[in-house]
Amino acid sequence: MSLAEELLELAVATAREAGRMLVDQRPAGGPDVVQTKSSPTDVVTQMDRAAEKLIIERIRAVRPGDGFLGEEGGTQAGASGVRWVVDPIDGTVNYLYDLPDWAVSIAAEVDGEAVVGVVEIPRRGETCTAVLGGGAVQHTAAGTRELRVNAHVPLGRALVSTGFGYEAGRRARQAEVLTGVLPNIRDIRRGGSCCVDLCSLAAGRADAYYERGVQAWDIAAGGLIVREAGGRVEGLHGAAPGPELTIAAGPGTFEALHDLLAPLDPARD
Ligand code: IPD
Ligand code: CA
Ligand code: CA
Ligand code: CA
Repeated sequence: MSLAEELLELAVATAREAGRMLVDQRPAGGPDVVQTKSSPTDVVTQMDRAAEKLIIERIRAVRPGDGFLGEEGGTQAGASGVRWVVDPIDGTVNYLYDLPDWAVSIAAEVDGEAVVGVVEIPRRGETCTAVLGGGAVQHTAAGTRELRVNAHVPLGRALVSTGFGYEAGRRARQAEVLTGVLPNIRDIRRGGSCCVDLCSLAAGRADAYYERGVQAWDIAAGGLIVREAGGRVEGLHGAAPGPELTIAAGPGTFEALHDLLAPLDPARD
């Protein structure tokens, strides 16, 4: 078995176990908010922490030398050259409200490059995976299918997903950018989970995505899944995707969305 195959198998098993735990152990009245981060609406629940702990424990038991970057603080250096980038619940607000679009996102990087991405979406019964150079697939009860982005959708007919982040003071600016985007596209979707948005793009359930403020754990797995499904994932003017701006789209849509967003200056506070 190659290293990538080994990492994929471990990531899938771990993401599925964490997803099952999050469904089975979600408290009947909803989880408790145990912390807020950048603003009072940027919440962490006990289940975010429990899922990250489970994921790190399971992976460390098999690969004790690996490093971790986890959203909920599970960041550890490793010596093996492999680092796991973990978002234990991407879409915590959806999980809090018992809306179905939240996911467990696990990526494995080797020497700084994402080689495996797994997004487990338990309430959709869906696991999306990608291996660098090996394509992207979606597993459901109905079987396994290859993921391909919609390659050539004109921007005016593109269904575009976005997110608004929770950082205090950013919302008015995000609304301004949206005002410039909305008249130029088919419609907007705000699903509430970055990695689910990226899987939807990879599956052709959306044509593009952009967001200010996403972190490595939001896009590590979903970004690889989009690329392996034939899409582009970049920042402005060829920069790497990241907190300033992340744009993802099929190759025939990307430039037009980029050129619409750039003068709107979405990275300005
Ligand atoms: C959030 C979700 C959301 C996005 C926010 C992220 P979290 O992640 O991905 O869709 O708009 O920027 O912070 O906090 O639920 O893991
Ligand atoms: Ca969060
Ligand atoms: Ca997230
Ligand atoms: Ca999270």
